[in-house]
Amino acid sequence: MEQKLYYLLHKITMWVLKIAAKVLPITKPTLFLGKDALKQLCDSVSIMGIDNVLIVSDEGIVKLGFVKRLVFEFERVGVHCEVYSGVEPDPTYRHVEAGLALYQTKKCNGVVAIGGGSSIDCAKVIAACVTNPKPIKKLVGLLRVWRAPAPLFVLPTTAGTGSEVTVAAVVSDPETHQKTPLMDPKLVPVAAALDPSLMLALPAHITAQTGMDALTHAVEAYISCNATVETDRYVLASVKLIHENLEKAVIFGQNATARQKMALASYYAGLAFTKASLGYVHAIAHAVGAKYGIPHGLANSVALPHVLEYSKHEAQARLAQLSDAIGVASSTESETEKAQAFIEYIKDLQRKLSLPTTFDAVLEEDIADLAKQSLHEAQWNYPVPRYMLQEECERLIANMAGAK
Ligand SMILES: [Fe+2]
Repeated sequence: MEQKLYYLLHKITMWVLKIAAKVLPITKPTLFLGKDALKQLCDSVSIMGIDNVLIVSDEGIVKLGFVKRLVFEFERVGVHCEVYSGVEPDPTYRHVEAGLALYQTKKCNGVVAIGGGSSIDCAKVIAACVTNPKPIKKLVGLLRVWRAPAPLFVLPTTAGTGSEVTVAAVVSDPETHQKTPLMDPKLVPVAAALDPSLMLALPAHITAQTGMDALTHAVEAYISCNATVETDRYVLASVKLIHENLEKAVIFGQNATARQKMALASYYAGLAFTKASLGYVHAIAHAVGAKYGIPHGLANSVALPHVLEYSKHEAQARLAQLSDAIGVASSTESETEKAQAFIEYIKDLQRKLSLPTTFDAVLEEDIADLAKQSLHEAQWNYPVPRYMLQEECERLIANMAGAK
């Protein structure tokens, strides 16, 4: 009875989200592409009359010299910079508060993120806090950023999170260690620079993990019940780019063309999932990742084929279309065979990218709680093609942990 009630509430929530995705205006950032993208973004900040920016980044990006290069280009066009480089993976409210304090003390009038998803998400929340002076907890959730944030510009150095284009930012509560997402169309940055030169130094294993995050965004958006003609177009473009470039970007890290195309793939997947939403792969990856400190892209990569196996009957036609889009099955095969071929393609990609296929860290005694957390996240957020019960989720996580 309780499960039936949850199922009904899930259906109603998904219906509301579908209407919201259609009605709410979601802007796209102005996009700068190519080797001059960083410079062009600096020019656009200056043209907007912004003359004192807070750069949000991490120490790794500082060491690579990217922050120095960004400051140089900003100073060239008369924009003063303050640098907050204290962001760490899975940023917490403390990182946001430290950046915000610097922004306010130095009277900045714009925020610029350079780095991976952690720096971009942290910068999004700093920008939101500038104009919405209240505890961060009060901004967590759906549509709680009432006033437009400070102008935000982003330069991703990884290709996967899609944070450069999405309505979401995830920061953690340092007391509970829970990841708390903010979701509001106002969090979409003003402009993004996809500059491949910022991605050439990314290590192979992080390139692989973040690439699988982008693929997961695309696939979950495609099998979502809220997918539209527009989000389908973005997904198909993204999946083709990933199919043609992810391996190249991992093996030949200095290949700027492959890096640029992966950055575009991430951007398109971000455009798709910000409207069509995600699914159980992300719900499980968030729970398992937070519990054992597993990087987000890696957690998605492990969970993706398992969740697709679970959903393949309901999502069969959609998976077959993805298979057709990248030509991993012959045209004479049935829809069922094509759907299976796409799942096998993902497993094969994992092997080629030397990514693990199981969660070795998961303990049996944690599985029930992990399933509960995953379902709690999914039931109120994700328009999934097949509704999952607690026991089913537990079985799936056990399989991901390598149970026979
Ligand atoms: Fe993701």
